[in-house]
Amino acid sequence: MFVSDCLNVNEKGHLTIGGVDTVDLAKEYGTPLYVSDENQIRANCQAFVKSIDENYSGNGRVLFASKAFCCKEMCRIVNDEKMGLDVVSGGELYTAIKAGFPTEKIYFHGNNKTIDELTQALDAGVGRIIVDNLTELEHLNALAKQKGKVQGIMFRIKPGIDAHTHSFIRTGQIDSKFGLALETGEALEAVKKAVSMENVELCGLHCHIGSQIFDIDPFELAAEVMLKFIAEIKKETGFVVKELNLGGGFGIKYLSEEKPEAYEAYMGRVAKVVKSKAEEYKLDMPFIIIEPGRSIVGSAGITLYTVGAVKEIPNIRTYVSVDGGMGDNPRYILYQSAYELMCANKANEPKDYKVTVAGKCCESGDLIQENALIQKVVPGDILATLSTGAYNYSMASNYNRIPRAATVMVKDGQSRVIIKRESYEDLIRNDV
Ligand code: LLP
Repeated sequence: MFVSDCLNVNEKGHLTIGGVDTVDLAKEYGTPLYVSDENQIRANCQAFVKSIDENYSGNGRVLFASKAFCCKEMCRIVNDEKMGLDVVSGGELYTAIKAGFPTEKIYFHGNNKTIDELTQALDAGVGRIIVDNLTELEHLNALAKQKGKVQGIMFRIKPGIDAHTHSFIRTGQIDSKFGLALETGEALEAVKKAVSMENVELCGLHCHIGSQIFDIDPFELAAEVMLKFIAEIKKETGFVVKELNLGGGFGIKYLSEEKPEAYEAYMGRVAKVVKSKAEEYKLDMPFIIIEPGRSIVGSAGITLYTVGAVKEIPNIRTYVSVDGGMGDNPRYILYQSAYELMCANKANEPKDYKVTVAGKCCESGDLIQENALIQKVVPGDILATLSTGAYNYSMASNYNRIPRAATVMVKDGQSRVIIKRESYEDLIRNDV
């Protein structure tokens, strides 16, 4: 019935998450409010870890792509689930360090890491830096030399695969700002250069073909392309690539009718490709890394709003305005992302009220969804957007100087704040 197992309806007809009444949550913590279910997040982590154990003899590691939802509590949960962490900026790295995340299990991505960020990563002792380009390689080698260190690296490769998803979140094709191209020989040149350098140790290759991908075929194809490149490197240079990071991008359910593959299915099929290609090219099986973000946290989270004005414009549309909007969920204005919405205090009533849900920003495009079917709402009702656990808080802004919402984690019927609501004082903290 719901997009996520952690959601249900209680005897009062209220939406629940992790066994907690969402109407009570809205009352206790205020709205807008992000709520995530810890058990669901942990179950998702465990499914990915198990998929490597079962399909690839445990010869790999699952990283959480922290860009999907970065905060100290998530870092602690991920560490507790024995996973690694993908960070993509000095800020994400800082968050992980402050959460006590073991830095040797941190993988630092990014297409334009600054010198400060590279220095921060070297000083922190991150496990791997995923080098995007030759400029970065030179900078990193020089910085590591100054510090008398040898940094483990991987190269970001463009496998030339066009995964069918929104063009903004497509990254594996040649026309991309991310990574080194295979076709032009740039990737092989980078490998040769790295192998000759003293202060970086080339450990592996990385690719990421896009996000919110439902089809497993492009992932299989990416694995094939990468294995072929590993074989080419061995033939051309004798160098053996030991680690292969196949990125994230596994699709989740935003709408009830969507049917993403089980996470186990992905590893089942991709492991087969890796094994057969390794055999064909006479390579040792690489240590496999995957880095899901959205699929760990997305469907474990919801956002609660209070309904304000309801404007019925005859023969045009009905606007339901809520006390949040593009500040807490910029994904509709950015990608026209589909979401399911419902009235949390009328969860059993029919969803036959067609509305456009608008935010409170001074911007016409500030919408959460158009033509959504929800229960008949009136001012004061609590409206929930489902599957907002990924890329909502992490992409939130303070546009119109609206403070960022709080995040509450629920678990076994209990709730706790993991990110406090911003205050007006927070908003002016850096003003001089
Ligand atoms: N690894 C790399 C190198 C990535 O660039 C990404 C996502 C991931 C892993 C995790 O992908 P996931 O499993 O979460 O799909 N803001 C967009 C999504 C951008 C994804 C960017 N990279 C959205 O809201 O849909």
